Amino acid sequence: MLVTGGAGYIGSHTVVTLIEKGYTPIIIDDFRNANQDVIERLSKITGEEIIYFNVACQDSFRLKGVFGQFPIEGVIHFAADKAVGESVEKPLKYFENNFGGLTSILELVQEFEVKNFVFSSSCTVYGDPEVIPVTEESPVSYNSPYGFTKKVCEEMIEQFVASCPIVKATLLRYFNPVGAHESGLIGEEPDGKPNNLLPFITQTAAGVRKELTVFGDDYDTPDGTCIRDYIHVVDLAEAHVAALENAMNSTENLMVFNVGTGKGSSVLEMIKTFEEETGIELPYKIGPRREGDIKEIYANTDKVNQTLNWESRKTINEAIATSWKFEKYIRELRK
Ligand SMILES: NC(=O)c1ccc[n+]([C@@H]2O[C@H](COP(=O)([O-])OP(=O)(O)OC[C@H]3O[C@@H](n4cnc5c(N)ncnc54)[C@H](O)[C@@H]3O)[C@@H](O)[C@H]2O)c1
Repeated sequence: MLVTGGAGYIGSHTVVTLIEKGYTPIIIDDFRNANQDVIERLSKITGEEIIYFNVACQDSFRLKGVFGQFPIEGVIHFAADKAVGESVEKPLKYFENNFGGLTSILELVQEFEVKNFVFSSSCTVYGDPEVIPVTEESPVSYNSPYGFTKKVCEEMIEQFVASCPIVKATLLRYFNPVGAHESGLIGEEPDGKPNNLLPFITQTAAGVRKELTVFGDDYDTPDGTCIRDYIHVVDLAEAHVAALENAMNSTENLMVFNVGTGKGSSVLEMIKTFEEETGIELPYKIGPRREGDIKEIYANTDKVNQTLNWESRKTINEAIATSWKFEKYIRELRK
């Protein structure tokens, strides 16, 4: 299984799950948003030598060599730029990487007749939904260049499989991935200021950040703060293997699934759970709303539960405990 972006946050956890399930992952990553030492840590967790290539998805010439070297049964395409705020400032960077990377990988999928393709999409394609929970049939839109790339990439894949029916594609729309591997050796390590809540919480608790700002407490929600569907990254990793195995036995050549828990948690609930789980009091203040944030979103997971026979099993407490374990580990490592 070729895993683009396999050194990143979700990709690295998926590599572990693939190995546990008996597959041989081949990582393609140019380490633009990952540290090369993750490979060693993946070896430590799995006890296996990790096959990886330090190459960009756009480098078709070198990638052709990789596709030619191994009998590739499936591709999971994680590699992309993903920061919503940055995408507003630098949309062309997002177009070049997210469209360019996908195009070049699909060309090779076609040339080498790879039958199975899984794409990292996002609940961002639902924009600011009027009806929640969102189903796979909910209207799609976007409110940032990043969201635009996810929506267009989904459409690119749809048109591609229509022209190349040998390929079965699965679009996984992730909700908010959180947590880390139970070993605490891999997790989310943002470059600079985190965009996501949990790394911000753990960095604040570790003293890297002075305090946490809650962006608005005047939303129309029970405690006034935004609500998201936080999915444990290890559960999410397992959904990828379930998607690959489902596609191997399916006659459909394009499938779309929400991957979430089906439950919403507010920002203040996350802070409270962190404090309960770790016994650490978090310094936080209420700030103004952040531009682009929507009030509330969580998934209807009926389709993924039934079709992929997959459901989230891990709790938010487990996600918080493992993230905190990883934060402490990575602080020591980077000293
Ligand atoms: N983390 C989230 O909150 C979230 C939510 C929904 C969807 N997603 C999507 O899931 C995917 C993985 O996200 P993540 O959180 O693991 O991000 P990440 O940045 O940790 O991982 C992406 C990896 O891809 C690599 N990469 C990027 N562009 C590349 C290229 N052109 N060639 C080779 N390698 C390249 C990076 O070095 C990194 O290791 C992305 O497509 C992202 O848009 C993430």
